[in-house]
Amino acid sequence: MKKLCVFASGAGSNAENLIRYFQKNKTAEVTLIVTNRADAGVNEVARKLGVEVFYCNRDYFSNPAGLTSLLTQKGIDLVILAGFLWLLPACLIQAYPNKIINIHPSLLPKYGGKGMFGEHVHKAVIAAGEKESGITIHYVNERYDQGSILLQARCPVEPGETLLSLSRKVLMLEHRFFPPLVESLVV
Ligand code: GAR
Repeated sequence: MKKLCVFASGAGSNAENLIRYFQKNKTAEVTLIVTNRADAGVNEVARKLGVEVFYCNRDYFSNPAGLTSLLTQKGIDLVILAGFLWLLPACLIQAYPNKIINIHPSLLPKYGGKGMFGEHVHKAVIAAGEKESGITIHYVNERYDQGSILLQARCPVEPGETLLSLSRKVLMLEHRFFPPLVESLVV
């Protein structure tokens, strides 16, 4: 069975959704969560669902050999970024060619790049008067949000759309499309 590692530093709803999906469908298993925030919701998600968490501070993160050997030692086949905001070290990306993916809450290349995450993205989409938004799942390279795109899914931005309503719509797309896409990469 393929082993998945999810990097997350937010609420962890995508991590939870992936863990639950693969607990039912045994094609793969989320065996490790890596986080850089000890107080993030994802820690509780992992505890509740019995998945090991590795807390990675800036020092550990800046020594790429550490993370690379952790993932190798755990036998990780695919690394999934789900709300993880630090740019991965080049050496880690090179050690896992086409084995690291990210989910982003907009239709890249629009509203991507450093500082564009979570609510900042949705605020910018609404402020620009966009008629649609959505999600992008892409391979990770050395630049923020620029790796080749695996999947995009769209939703309308309605007149009167709020930050909350757009966040919810986009998160629903993430929860629907992310697990099957991950599965397609590991089976
Ligand atoms: C998700 O919407 C994800 O697309 C976004 O963070 C959220 C994490 O939610 N990622 C980025 O903005 C990356 N630039 P979650 O913690 O509930 O899974």
